[in-house]
Amino acid sequence: MVRLKQLWPSLMVLAVLVIGARAVPITKLESAVAKGAVCLDGSAPAYHLDKGSGSGVNNWIVHMEGGGWCADTASCEERKSLMKGSSELMNEDFGFFGILSGNQTSNPDFYNWNRVKVRYCDGSSFTGDIEAVDPAHKLYFRGFRIWQAAMDDLMAKGMSNAQNAILSGCSAGALAAILHCDRFKSILPETAKVKCVSDAGFFINGKDINGGSSMESYYSKVAATHGSAKNLPVSCTSSMKPELCFFPENVVKTMQTPLFVINAAFDSWQIKNILAPTVVDKHKEWNKCKQDFKKCTPTQLQTVQGYREQMLAALEPFRATNTSGLFLDSCHTHCQGGSAALWSGPQGPQVGKTKMAKAVGEWFYERSTFQNVDCPSLNCNPTCPGATTED
Ligand SMILES: *[C@@H]1O[C@H](CO)[C@@H](O)[C@H](O)[C@H]1NC(C)=O
Ligand SMILES: *[C@@H]1O[C@H](CO)[C@@H](O)[C@H](O)[C@H]1NC(C)=O
Repeated sequence: MVRLKQLWPSLMVLAVLVIGARAVPITKLESAVAKGAVCLDGSAPAYHLDKGSGSGVNNWIVHMEGGGWCADTASCEERKSLMKGSSELMNEDFGFFGILSGNQTSNPDFYNWNRVKVRYCDGSSFTGDIEAVDPAHKLYFRGFRIWQAAMDDLMAKGMSNAQNAILSGCSAGALAAILHCDRFKSILPETAKVKCVSDAGFFINGKDINGGSSMESYYSKVAATHGSAKNLPVSCTSSMKPELCFFPENVVKTMQTPLFVINAAFDSWQIKNILAPTVVDKHKEWNKCKQDFKKCTPTQLQTVQGYREQMLAALEPFRATNTSGLFLDSCHTHCQGGSAALWSGPQGPQVGKTKMAKAVGEWFYERSTFQNVDCPSLNCNPTCPGATTED
């Protein structure tokens, strides 16, 4: 009989092969606590770092985790019992996939870079900074300090010698990548090639089903709760209300650093929360449709199709600059670049016959430009995925 003990090493190897990624351990920034850089519950911020090697030792990709926002005391309070609000509750290991993968085959341009995943536990896309701590709730609004503390720590670990660097993220983390992109460039050596990548972070100030702007009202609460205004790009806040400066369409106009946008034209989060949020869908007529487009009425489908038009209009100023990269697929999904399958796998969505790994790599190294908008209608692209991996 083969004993389990003897089998163990080969089972471990098998597990790694099946998962296709090495688990990257967490680093908690205990020293950041003294600077007041803490998660909503007061715990230390955290990241996962997989060190670069060979030709990638001086290259850095810093990717911020997503997970929506909290806009008031009650919703931020809820996060204290989740890993989205406390590093005490975070998983110790993270498998790195897609744009963070250490596998040369699936991530040929970035596999040997220093790859970092900054954990999200502030609920403000790393923009908050309020000194006072509400004694009744013991909630800390310090997202921006977390971002700064993470950057300081990574600079000390070698990022100050970066030759190539990318600030990226998924969803709320992708929005943070846009909001902090120029700042990221400014802390790195002048000689470094620095660019940013937003995966599902192009949240538009779209009209909802009642013709209002629910998302603008929502961001107004986020900004007030977290004290975000002073940490949003000044080039935007100097002429617009803070809540408007959460929208990439208003920020990219004055952004200096090149940005690549990966987004679904029918982004599932945006359809649910910007087009048909529960607050305006009083009779819950959109409940089924916004989960599954097969359950939409013909009129609802037209409205969904119209959302893509809103998205294209919002992207117009961004597309006008020749340094912008764009991979806008006509899929119904949210966050694509963190998945092994979608980033470069055989089932990966294609726009202009290209998968996102190739599009982003070519654009970063300027081997070619890439601005591609998919065929216009829902279901027109047979390479679209049926599922998502992270929100
Ligand atoms: C790397 O990715 C390729 C393609 O997905 C896969 O076939 C291979 O097994 C992976 N290698 C490792 C060491 O996981
Ligand atoms: C973008 O345009 C500027 C000014 O016309 C030019 O100098 C630059 O080389 C262009 N960059 C790319 C990547 O095409």
